[in-house]
Amino acid sequence: MDKRIGLNSIAFTLNGDSVVTRPLPGERLSYSLRERLGAKDVKVGCDAGDCGACTVLVNGAAICACLMPTHQAEGRTVETLAGLRGADSAAEALADSFAAHGAAQCGICTPGMMVSAVALLRSGTQLTEAAVQDALGGVLCRCTGYGKIIDAVLAAGEPHAPPQGDGHTGQPIQRLDVAGKLDGTERFGDDVAPPDALHLRVIRSPYHRAHFDLGDLQGWAGRTPGIVTVLTAKDVPGAQTFGVIPAFADQPVFAVSETRFKGEAVAAVVGSAAAMQVFDETQVPITWTELPAALSMSEALTDEAPALHADRPGNVMCKGYVACGDDEAALEAADVTVEGSFTTAFVEHAYIEPEAGFARMVGDRLEVHACTQAPVMDQEALAEILGVAPSAVRIVPTGVGGGFGSKLDLSVQPYLALAAMRTGRAVRLTYSRTESMQSTTKRHPAQITARIGATADGRLNGMTFQGQFNTGAYASWGPTVANRVPVHASGPYRIADYRAEARGVHTHCVPSGAFRGFGVPQSAVAQESLFDELADKLGMDRLEFRILNALENGTPTVCGQVFDSGVGIRACLEALRPAWAKMRADAQSWNRGHPSLRRGVGVAGGWYGCGNTSLPNPSTIKCGLRADGTLVLHQGAVDIGQGSNTAIAQIFATALGVPVDKVTLVGADTDVTPDAGKTSASRQTFVSGNAARLSAEALRAEILARVNADKGAKLNLDGDVIEIRDAAKTHRVALADLPADAEGYVLRAEQTYDPPTVPLDANGQGHPYAQFGYAAHLAVVEVDMALGTVRPLRVVAAHDVGHAINPNLVEGQVQGGIAQGLGMALMEEYLPGRTDNLHDYLIPTIGDIPPIETLIIEEPDVHGPFGAKGLGEHVLIPTAPALLNAIHDASGVRVTELPATPARVRAKLRERDHG
Ligand code: FES
Repeated sequence: MDKRIGLNSIAFTLNGDSVVTRPLPGERLSYSLRERLGAKDVKVGCDAGDCGACTVLVNGAAICACLMPTHQAEGRTVETLAGLRGADSAAEALADSFAAHGAAQCGICTPGMMVSAVALLRSGTQLTEAAVQDALGGVLCRCTGYGKIIDAVLAAGEPHAPPQGDGHTGQPIQRLDVAGKLDGTERFGDDVAPPDALHLRVIRSPYHRAHFDLGDLQGWAGRTPGIVTVLTAKDVPGAQTFGVIPAFADQPVFAVSETRFKGEAVAAVVGSAAAMQVFDETQVPITWTELPAALSMSEALTDEAPALHADRPGNVMCKGYVACGDDEAALEAADVTVEGSFTTAFVEHAYIEPEAGFARMVGDRLEVHACTQAPVMDQEALAEILGVAPSAVRIVPTGVGGGFGSKLDLSVQPYLALAAMRTGRAVRLTYSRTESMQSTTKRHPAQITARIGATADGRLNGMTFQGQFNTGAYASWGPTVANRVPVHASGPYRIADYRAEARGVHTHCVPSGAFRGFGVPQSAVAQESLFDELADKLGMDRLEFRILNALENGTPTVCGQVFDSGVGIRACLEALRPAWAKMRADAQSWNRGHPSLRRGVGVAGGWYGCGNTSLPNPSTIKCGLRADGTLVLHQGAVDIGQGSNTAIAQIFATALGVPVDKVTLVGADTDVTPDAGKTSASRQTFVSGNAARLSAEALRAEILARVNADKGAKLNLDGDVIEIRDAAKTHRVALADLPADAEGYVLRAEQTYDPPTVPLDANGQGHPYAQFGYAAHLAVVEVDMALGTVRPLRVVAAHDVGHAINPNLVEGQVQGGIAQGLGMALMEEYLPGRTDNLHDYLIPTIGDIPPIETLIIEEPDVHGPFGAKGLGEHVLIPTAPALLNAIHDASGVRVTELPATPARVRAKLRERDHG
């Protein structure tokens, strides 16, 4: 026996089995569990004990496995979610309850949450909300807003009635894909690589801007044991740059001689797992020379600023513009006007799953398995980079542990693809938390100035808006933000005289991109804050001021678009009236006895156009019936936690006329599912949902035509026979008698839906979106007048979703979006190079989210499937301004620089009190 190996062998009990492993000195238990012992149900989000995703039980105590050296597990008992399921009644009770409550969305945090909850249930501690918050306080969730998780733990062990009915639209059925999230079998980007895969590390710029010289990289690789190759720009056979908008494809796969942001890729090192585990990137021969950088928009816009892109003078990337009427004349004629300037920060998506995946060659085709929101966009972009046809690239999305917009852009994919092609071997890459935060897109920081007027009767009369958005070093979705903001900056209100300009500005910062709202949450902060100022100047109730000016059916938007039906903002605002009256009275009563802790109530509205702005935006959905009666839905809309797998299946089943449990889902895969477009812009329920509806209708029509049945006939899929009952008789179609096609389908349909829009003219007039969704939030906060701390106490959220396909999923989206809006308002501020981890960059924890009441409004949309509207972005647009308005209501000071940290609130209070 090798005594050295014997000394390093560590034995412990893992989920009831004795295991022996040989970790490196100091190796994290999370690494040993996942990589040496195959426990992929243990998730890793940060490797720093900040996120809690890797929580396991060691001798019964919940610990972060990333913080424990494996050697400390010697002789102990380690339990993970996979082991607890089936072996512990507490875990079973939790799984039932999590499923029933919709407590798992993307599911990446769920193992950590459930393991922590098992420890709580085993402890016999009395179950209270505070006890649950305590026990789960170390685990972060970016999707749910925590409310449903708390409810699920409190209700563990209670009977949960199995879902009743056929699961058609309107029913709050459980997620169809929930099982794998609750037993640890769902596979995310870091879970899928074959064991013999090579590992890849990207070498990144340590400076915001730098010149660099590459040394003899291949020589270094040849001398370094275990290193297989090094890739740089000269190894890119096709397009050297990429970008989600082809006309702005400006981001190099690898920078050439100069980097434009801290964290930009310059090379990639590929080696064995063992070599990369001890890899020291300071040994890679690269020489850096730091250069002056423009980190703010004001610096980048000076004449002396270095030009980031030669074809974009003045570092202005692009502009957006919408104008109607005569804003200046209207403001001149207004009885009251208000004006203000607002700034917002970089906001990090902070999904718990860092970007990850692997790639391999299968024959002469490339396969990439990675977390993504946009498989077909990835396929097309990689084909460009590799210089091959798209058909030579297959994208197989893994589970996505949160996306929120950032996983629309390429991250790990180009490096994996180049390395797999170069080596001919499977290659894997998982970003570290720091790498993820340094190099992937953020919410655009904004500088906004707006002026708004009203007549004495409270009617809005004129608005001008100028917004600058820091798009960072590369374009990403910056042009989308610049175009979308002027369309939305009025809010969902009637303003006849309006002019809004937005522009994207390059800086030496990480690129900004898509993040739930594409700039609209930032513009809503300015507009909704100024609406409160206007209402106050007019002496009007702030909610009634909004109701008076709310868009209605038949009134034109600032783009001149008129909707005859489905404009739901007034209904949303009116739904808040009872809570507004009660909570304002409660706050006033509280404040009479509490001079140092003041409570206030704020309100804000919001709207969001679903889908691309005046651009084609199709989704295609395919379905088929096999001879044995299996009904297959090829659903290529990637479910990133929001529930599209379930909602789209419900739409499909409803339109076909069969129960949803008859549907077998085939998920996104560019080889087997048609292009359902990207999961973005709140488009999947609306656009892909419509494609699913059309496919179901086509399949149904084909079935009915076979037996000449009435349109309203009832279908019954019974094994390999379809029973069709109409007024005349019961017909039967024996599926086994029908010829099967190459895919094994005896009946099939495939349909595409593309929302009808009209291009915007030079003044931004047109029909940018076929549908808008609407929202209004009310927030109650408590402000400590000495410390400046803000404690949110309550949120009431009214959302017009047209038709709630699944009310449970709607609530989940609303609660999760509000949690992100709260983070944006009160705590989240990404500072490039300074807050690139989850202990310096704070996101809301389980204790930060107040009770959230969701009011579902259903003003059917004429284009939506069964009237449904998108929801994903709308859910946080009113949150930040409602909170800021509540802070003002409580304290009398208006915070115009986000986030409203205690320091900023206190500074405002001091400024007011001491001049
Ligand atoms: Fe918690 Fe996604 S469900 S992070």
